[in-house]
Amino acid sequence: MCGIVGYIGERQAASILLDGLSKLEYRGYDSAGIAVYNGEKIQMSKAKGRLKVLSELTHDGETLPGTIGIGHTRWATHGAPSDANSHPHFNESMSIAVVHNGIIENYIKIKKMLESKGYQFASDTDTEVVAHLLDYYYKGNALEAITKVMHRVEGSYALGILFAEKPDTLYAVRKDSPLIVGKSANGNLIASDVPAVLKYTRDVYFIENEEIAVIQQDNMKFYNMYEEELTKESVKIEWDVEAAEKGGYEHFMLKEMHEQPKAVADTLSPRLKEGKIVLDELNMTEEEMKAIRKIMIVACGSAYHTGVTAKYILEGLARIPVEVDVASEFRYRNPILEEGTLVIIISQSGETADSLAALRMAKNMGSKVLAIVNVVGSSIAREADSVLYTWAGPEIAVATTKAYSAQLIAHYLLAMKLAEVRGTVTLEELAVLIEDLKRIPEQIELLLGNREKIQKFANRYVAAKDVFFIGRGIDYAISLEGSLKLKEISYIHSEAYAAGELKHGTISLIEDGTLVVALLTQEELYKKTVSNVVEVKTRGAVVLSVTNAGNTDMEKNSDYTIYIPKTNKYFTNSLAVVPLQLFAYYISIGRGCDVDKPRNLAKSVTVE
Ligand code: F6R
Repeated sequence: MCGIVGYIGERQAASILLDGLSKLEYRGYDSAGIAVYNGEKIQMSKAKGRLKVLSELTHDGETLPGTIGIGHTRWATHGAPSDANSHPHFNESMSIAVVHNGIIENYIKIKKMLESKGYQFASDTDTEVVAHLLDYYYKGNALEAITKVMHRVEGSYALGILFAEKPDTLYAVRKDSPLIVGKSANGNLIASDVPAVLKYTRDVYFIENEEIAVIQQDNMKFYNMYEEELTKESVKIEWDVEAAEKGGYEHFMLKEMHEQPKAVADTLSPRLKEGKIVLDELNMTEEEMKAIRKIMIVACGSAYHTGVTAKYILEGLARIPVEVDVASEFRYRNPILEEGTLVIIISQSGETADSLAALRMAKNMGSKVLAIVNVVGSSIAREADSVLYTWAGPEIAVATTKAYSAQLIAHYLLAMKLAEVRGTVTLEELAVLIEDLKRIPEQIELLLGNREKIQKFANRYVAAKDVFFIGRGIDYAISLEGSLKLKEISYIHSEAYAAGELKHGTISLIEDGTLVVALLTQEELYKKTVSNVVEVKTRGAVVLSVTNAGNTDMEKNSDYTIYIPKTNKYFTNSLAVVPLQLFAYYISIGRGCDVDKPRNLAKSVTVE
């Protein structure tokens, strides 16, 4: 987590650093800091709190003149959020400044060694050891000192480094944390993510693991950790700058919910050609698709929830056994990956530490790994055997909406393709499914148009204490996501339950006025879930039902009913999740929460 930026060029660095950090605040927002070389020495300003505290403190950067600098926005791991623990960190003479995203795992050992040599520490962070260790190794050759540090530290890092003795050079290093370098006519930049540099350039280098970038105003060189020079190609970024801005919406989350029809259509349409599903990106022959004996889906959070949905669909349509696991469990449970297992890693950011570790482990165990990823060129995308990109565009709100929706579509396409090749659906059935798929964007649009009704209902329940989401089959998978959305942005306790499980314990929590959100989109399970709804109503619950258009009898069992347009039973998640996202959003607003940046969270979880 955390975001780093850096600039060297002909313009004043501080305002560019602050602007870049504002695009990276989604990565963490406990504190922020910048360091700028002013022609004589490195000056620094850092503060606990949101970036605006730092902007005010530095008068939008004016108090730190200079044309080379680095900056940081923090999501605390080692050391509480505080001024002292904020980055940049320095050596004692303040001649070396460091910003860091990642974790130095052996920092205690290194700290002890440095302390024994007389080094004194000013913070509780793991990062500070890097600044002192650079000082320890620096004998006039910055590249040499950096490579020595890289050989000594363990863990993950993207580092931006300034040496007062090298005022025309910015250094950046990467291992297991994202880092890009942007090249522009007026100067060059480093950043944790592309949106931070888009205002200045579209020409970007993706720095790989254990690579070093040595950047000057009109020159840049790349090295490996043995100081050997590398040749790298830049990539042209095609996104719009506006795609990473709010575009008139009050919050990124609201904007991104409204971008779902486009995210779905963009993920879908390039893969539909002349009535057929074309997934060349899978990089698999039909024989290889037929040979799949099992699918293992691994992901975190909402991406895991799309995996739970995908299990029902892949098993239902393609008749392949599917196991789903959260990455932080999978990687430590010594899993069995037999021959013929396809491992799918799902990730919006493509940088989630546990998912990346799971990918590496699966590859080491000999499995083929397919990644379903939103960020082009991200670590997971680069390391997987094949990638099915979701084309949701940059997602800024911490709570995912459009990337989740695009992930669902990628799985529908995959399940349908595998079903076609393995002969578990007929071509006629496939054609009907494709027609249903094509309608999803406009159906989502319709549901978004109904947002005021949901807002009204949400306004009545802003004070709810506990909310239960229930459903069976795919409706259970939808419940998982509805519950996470609500709790993460409104801080209301909520739980998702397989509806049939309630009476095995949890129903004892239902009392007068407890809110229950019931999902009933699976017609063959409808009556079963209705019984569960009746059970909770009898015990005093207030029920909000989400069901298929036409199920009007639900109104007598619920206090409030939301209908979703008719679609295939496998695709209902794409529609039913929309009112749940809106519900969470309006509850969060009603409670005065910070919708886009909920407390304690960060968009990209690059630590385990
Ligand atoms: C919740 C949310 C998270 C992410 C999870 C995985 O709204 O966004 O639960 O889904 O942290 O992140 P990615 O998809 O980037 O691997």
